[in-house]
Amino acid sequence: MIRVLFVCLGNICRSPLAHGVLRHAIEQRGLGEDLAVDSCGTSAYHNGGGSDPGSVTVARQHGIDISDLISRRLTAADYRNFDLLVAMDRQNERDILERQPGNTEPHIVRFMDFVEGAGSPDVPDPYYGGAGGFQVVYELIEAGMDPLIDFALTLHSSPS
Ligand code: 4NP
Repeated sequence: MIRVLFVCLGNICRSPLAHGVLRHAIEQRGLGEDLAVDSCGTSAYHNGGGSDPGSVTVARQHGIDISDLISRRLTAADYRNFDLLVAMDRQNERDILERQPGNTEPHIVRFMDFVEGAGSPDVPDPYYGGAGGFQVVYELIEAGMDPLIDFALTLHSSPS
């Protein structure tokens, strides 16, 4: 079982959308014994709250329900409890690496590494933009998810 954790800043826009898309793929493809997924933020700005309506809406437009997801902050335990930490942008990746406890060795990657022909290293933050930003984020997540799944399935779970 490979455990995947998507990490953005607020855990209300980008990482919950990625969480929902992967959860849906796991259900659709019967991968429940191979992959598990969660998401979190490097900040606690929205701790305990639901996802941004923009993400909930764009997910629903594609048949995916993320209305149950609750924002939480990245913890030290996440570095042991997950095999693959996926940063949605470079700042998220820097924060993840900076806070990494010793003696933990999850794989740490950026989501855009899995998007072929990606023009940017970052999944753009739609928080301050209009509704169109959420569709852009959804399309990037769709584009990168199958390569990410293929990569995750090549990993071997760390003992913990
Ligand atoms: P996210 O977007 O990191 O994709 O969830 C943001 C959500 C909230 C804030 C910034 C980005 N904020 O500053 O509150």
